[in-house]
Parts: sequence; structure tokens; C-alpha cells
Amino acid sequence: MCGIVGYIGPKQASTFLIEGLSKLEYRGYDSAGIAVHDGNKITIEKTIGRLANLEQKLEHHKLEGSLGIGHTRWATHGRPSDVNSHPHSDCTGNFVVVHNGIIENYMHLKEQLIAKGHVFTSETDTEVVAHLLEEYYDGDFEASVKRVLGDISGSYALVFMSKFEPNKIICTKQDNPLVIGLGEGENFIASDIPAIINRTRRTYILSDGEMAVVTKDSVWVTNRQGVPITKKVFEVNWDAEAAEKGGYEHFMIKEIYEQPKAIRETMTSRLAKDNSHIIFDELKWTKGELAAIKKVVIVACGTAYHAGIVGKYYIESLARIPVEVDVASEFRYRFPLVDENTLAIVISQSGETLDTLAALKEAKRLGATTLAITNVVGSSISREADQVVYTWAGPEIAVASTKAYTTQLISMAMLSIYMAGIRETISAERSQELISGLRNLPTQVHEILEDVEPIKTFAQQYGFNEDVFFIGRSLDYAVALEGALKLKEISYIHAEAYAAGELKHGTLALIIEGVPVIALATQHDVYEKTLSNIKEVKARDAVVIGIAQQGDDQIKKYVDHTIFIPQADKYLAPILAVIPLQLLSYYAAVTRGCDVDKPRNLAKSVTVE
Ligand code: F6R
Repeated sequence: MCGIVGYIGPKQASTFLIEGLSKLEYRGYDSAGIAVHDGNKITIEKTIGRLANLEQKLEHHKLEGSLGIGHTRWATHGRPSDVNSHPHSDCTGNFVVVHNGIIENYMHLKEQLIAKGHVFTSETDTEVVAHLLEEYYDGDFEASVKRVLGDISGSYALVFMSKFEPNKIICTKQDNPLVIGLGEGENFIASDIPAIINRTRRTYILSDGEMAVVTKDSVWVTNRQGVPITKKVFEVNWDAEAAEKGGYEHFMIKEIYEQPKAIRETMTSRLAKDNSHIIFDELKWTKGELAAIKKVVIVACGTAYHAGIVGKYYIESLARIPVEVDVASEFRYRFPLVDENTLAIVISQSGETLDTLAALKEAKRLGATTLAITNVVGSSISREADQVVYTWAGPEIAVASTKAYTTQLISMAMLSIYMAGIRETISAERSQELISGLRNLPTQVHEILEDVEPIKTFAQQYGFNEDVFFIGRSLDYAVALEGALKLKEISYIHAEAYAAGELKHGTLALIIEGVPVIALATQHDVYEKTLSNIKEVKARDAVVIGIAQQGDDQIKKYVDHTIFIPQADKYLAPILAVIPLQLLSYYAAVTRGCDVDKPRNLAKSVTVE
């Protein structure tokens, strides 16, 4: 989820490049860089840190020229550093590229290129693209770029410059956004509309597989086979603030809608092509190493803690290792039984949560092997942990966590299948079944997001109730906890989550006529029991909204409304069941006029105890 800009025209390119990058700054990033062609050669300036650092560098080292590309990086492959910042170039400096996304097969390509004598300077996946272009260049820029695209797989928005073509930029995309801003005698390229909105509102939105050759006076779009494509001009009629949110009203809803992509990217390169196993190049655990682990402790806060509860279920039932889950602020003060045979997993979107960081240090001090699941490369937690699995959700701006949570669940699922495979506690068939289930998730999440009207209506109908209860059994209970937290934090409605079987031990006293109860019933093995609990609350005249799997014909008889999620394995159903709950909270907050992205009293990154 980095940012890309490009300029070609009569003016100094660097002026627009810096302006465009600054418009993407709201997303947060860890480094920035630009490359400018002065008619003879391309010069790159890049640096770790915020855009101001780059601007400072450029004050001493002006880049003159009217053709250029720029990038803000949100690190994925390779920590934030000067050398890992974009733009990247080949061995000669003749070809320069900026990239958003992930090149899945970069390791393989890198090995081949190194064998041919290419020298790499960064740890990024992107650099292979520049070297491939060097390798293939035969005097025809477009044809060489096409050959490069034939070799790479993954998701990308890519922009190329060549020393030999001072009047041309080439760009293309696959599963990552890219727009071309159409000016008068100048053209702009950007990954996001906010970067260009001050210069032009006339754009071409590139589709997957399209490639554009951009000069100052023309934009020539073709598919990969070179067949010309006539693009329609898309007039942007949002204001700058709306444009930052990609046309959505809030970052939270934008991020909810980004989940199919975030999930896909988190799984990218980690699922074997034939679904037979999980690939964790970052871990490479052996059977012996895993045999030494007698206990797992998962430590996190808030939403990440809820992901940990799902993780416990996954690891215990698939990899058959006992798991404890702790709220990070409690972990350190309960004298935990942790030693060198413990694997401590900390989960943190930001990688900066102080309680989680402190718990990680404590686990390390007690001798545990530590593993962080985090979304931010180079964060304090990623640096402190022995090993890191990154969720590739991209920057999460809304305070309420959504896409980070689903990608944390994906990571926990992959980790558990991976551990179970090594420990031989899962059959090949079951592993394959789960991995193909994982593969279906982006499409299934998308399906839920296509039909939000009923959820919106429930939120409007029940958004002014002061108490809401969430119930579920087994993994549904873990999702209920997350649903209740989401509703509390952004809509300020008092919400409680209960293990459905626990209601009768006290909480049932609170269930009276008209109280909304959201009942999750996606887990087949406890389905009948959940139905009994639903009947308990219905008998007290609660209004029940059931969340069930498609094909469940029974549930409608017992609840007032039903939200169906696509059919999925019981282990993967939480990743789908949480989506309606996120939407319900979002629309309830909107109905109540709450400040959705910045709920009262809360901050995105909690760096105090
Ligand atoms: C809730 C939420 C918080 C965070 C918690 C941990 O929507 O976002 O509960 O999950 O503060 O934050 P990270 O994951 O950054 O450690």
C-alpha cells in the first residue's frame, strides 16, 4: 500500500512529485524517493523517514528535469531503509522503477538474475523488475517491459522510466490501483487520486492487465498483447478529503472494503500452488524445533487479542500444542509460566503497542522463542521479536481495526496449518481442504460486501438501543467478542459478548423485551446447542439477529432477522462472520452521528501502559 506518482510535461517534474507524494502522506509511510530524467540521465534521490527528509535532501541536491517518478514506501519485503526505498534501478542506472504490491516470484527471479551477474543493492522484491528490464532491453522499451511482465507474478502497480526514452513513461497494473491524470501538454500518474486532484480532474483509471505509454501529449493504452484499448475519461468530482478516502465517507468503511485485497496479499506466496502446504520462508521451522515447543502463549491487546483467541483454537485443534492467550497488560504481572520450551506469539497491527512490546520483552527474558504477527515492517515489535510474520494489510488509518483483524486471523490460520503439517497432526486431505478454503476467502468476503443494504437497515433500526448482546459458541464466541468491541468503540453503544452457554449463569437477567441479541451460529458442531441458547433469549422477547452460513434453513424459524455468510469451513467462518459485524458497527455509528474514524478517548497507536 505504498504511493506512486509520475510526471511528464514542460515543468520541473520534482515539484509535482513532491506535491503528489505529500497528498499521500495521510496514509503514513516509512520512506520516500523520486527519480528525474534530465534529458541525458536519470538521477535518484531517496531516503528513509518522512517526506520532509527527502525535501531536505533535495534542497542540497536539486533534481532538474521534466520527466520523473516518485514513491512513498510502506515496507513489505525488506525493512525501511535508504536502500530499500524506491525508486529502484538496475546495475547500470539506465532503468528505474517504482512499485506498489508484491512480486510473488521475486526470490526465484533474483536467484536467476544473480547467476547472470546482476548485482542487487536492496532486499526488496521490486528491484528484480529493474534488473529484468536491463536483461531484456533490446532497444524497444515497450516490448522489453512486456517481456518483464510476462515473467513476474503477483500484484502490482508499476511505473518505468528508461534513460534511453526521455519523452516517455510506461505504467501498468495488476490488483493495485493506478490512475493517469490528463493535463494540457502534461500528464500525471498516481496510485491514488488525491495525488493529482489539484492538477487535473480528468483521469483514466487503468484496469488490470492494461499498460499505458504516457508522453506529455498522449496516453496510449493497450492490453499485454498490444491490442489498443479506448479508455473513457473519468471526471473526479470528489473534494480532496473525500479523495483521500477513495470516495468512501470514512477510512473505516474504505478499510472494510479493502479486506479482500488485504487477505489476498497476506496469503500471497504463502499458499503452495497445489494447496498442499503452507510456505513460511520467514520461519522455516523444523520438526525438531517444533517438537521442543511444549506450550504457546499468545499475547496482544484489544482486537489483536481477539485474533489471539481464534489463534488458540486453531493451534490447539490443528497443531495440538497447548495455548494460553493473555491480554498484554496482564501478562507481565501474573508471573507467567514461560521458559525456553515456550513459543510466545505477540499480535499487533501497529507493532508499537507498549503493553504488547513489554510482554514480548518479558517472554524473551524468561527464555521463550518469540514470534510477532504485525502489520508494520520495522516497527518496535518486529525488531524485538526473534521472528516475524507480516500481515500485508497495508496502512490502517481508522482507529477501529478491521482489515488488520481479518489478516491476523488469516496469519494465525496459516501458521497453525503450517505447524500442524510439520508436527504431522493434520492429514494431507484436511490441510488441502483448509488451504483451498483460505483461497476462496477474498471472493467470499467480496460477496458479503456486495450486499450491505440489509445490514445497514438493521443498524438504522437498532442503532439507538443502548444495550446490545452478542452470543456464540466456540469460534463464534471469539467473533462475538470482536463484534461487541467494534460496536462499543465506534458507536458508544453498550455491548457485551457472551459464550452462548454462559448466559443462563447470570446475564440472562438482562435480556428483556426488545433488547437486540446478535447470535452467531456458524459452527456446525455446536449448532443445535446455539439454537437452544437462541430460544432462551427469544423466550424473553429479545430481538435476535442470527448470523449463519448460507444453506442453513433452520435458523430463520428462531430469529427475527438473518444475515447469511457464504459457506465455509468452520475454522474459516470467523473470517467471514466478522464482516457483517464490522458493517453493523459502522452503520450504527453513522446512524448515531459518531466520529467513526476517530472515536472519543481512543488513539490508533497506544504507546502508554
Ligand atoms: C480496536 C483496536 C484496538 C487495537 C489494540 C491493539 O478496533 O483497534 O483494540 O486492536 O489497541 O493495537 P495493535 O494491534 O496495534 O497492537
